[in-house]
Amino acid sequence: MTPDPPTQRILIVGATSAIATEVARTFAERGASLVLTGRKPERLAALADDLAVRGAAEVETAVLDVLATESHAAVVERAFAPGRLDVAVIAHGTLPDQTRCQESAAETVRALEVNFTATAALLTLLANRFEAQRGGVIAVITSVAGDRGRQSNYVYGAAKGGLAVFLQGLRNRLHHRGVSVVTLKPGLVDTPMTAEMPKNPLFSTARRAGRAIHSAIEGRRDVAYIPWFWRPIMALVTSLPESIFKRLRL
Ligand SMILES: NC(=O)c1ccc[n+]([C@@H]2O[C@H](COP(=O)([O-])OP(=O)(O)OC[C@H]3O[C@@H](n4cnc5c(N)ncnc54)[C@H](OP(=O)(O)O)[C@@H]3O)[C@@H](O)[C@H]2O)c1
Repeated sequence: MTPDPPTQRILIVGATSAIATEVARTFAERGASLVLTGRKPERLAALADDLAVRGAAEVETAVLDVLATESHAAVVERAFAPGRLDVAVIAHGTLPDQTRCQESAAETVRALEVNFTATAALLTLLANRFEAQRGGVIAVITSVAGDRGRQSNYVYGAAKGGLAVFLQGLRNRLHHRGVSVVTLKPGLVDTPMTAEMPKNPLFSTARRAGRAIHSAIEGRRDVAYIPWFWRPIMALVTSLPESIFKRLRL
């Protein structure tokens, strides 16, 4: 008789996000053990109950506002406490109001801090632990918005684009230690983040995005567009010469 595969231990930061919730459910349905972090204890507790019903081996929760970078080390220690962590998924994010960012340097800095600086700080700690472990997967949700700056959301895009470059370097460093770094680039997904946006056929559901992210992690993909059709769309968008692109109102 072949022995059962060992239970996967998964850390999800920003676990109460609509997309991360679906990623967590997909792992739970496969019997994984999960460590969830988020800002709201009551929402974390409700998600933990939901995941237990869906088949999670074990669910732990920890309250974490990612801007409190002094709290990152304790969360990372807890995730690695049993001696091994298989996957870390970083999902938190905010979609700032571009006009407000243009009017306020403080608003711009805050958007960059949540979406880039705090994430880079957390990744620095996680990367060192995974490197010492010599294995595992770090998966981070960036965005197609990071592929090209547009007037309608270049502050968010700059944070996500900067994150994608950070992950590119991390992947190059950790590949030599058996650690995979997965850059996840969703397009438009119908979640609380995009609640105010008029919907069109390019929108995906959080369920579809969550499943596609799970499969990119399992496949240890380097860069995954979520869903896949955003890859050709963004190839077209990034191929336009700057002399033409700057004239468009996007
Ligand atoms: N929806 C899209 O179309 C889309 C497209 C591309 C990329 N993304 C990215 O996908 C990820 C998930 O977003 P979503 O669409 O699922 O949106 P969402 O449901 O609004 O989730 C955003 C999550 O980020 C958390 N968060 C915000 N600031 C935080 C902080 N300082 N510390 C800890 N957590 C914080 C929120 O926590 P609270 O519940 O406590 O507020 C919430 O759980 C984000 O990185 C987003 O940028 C989304």
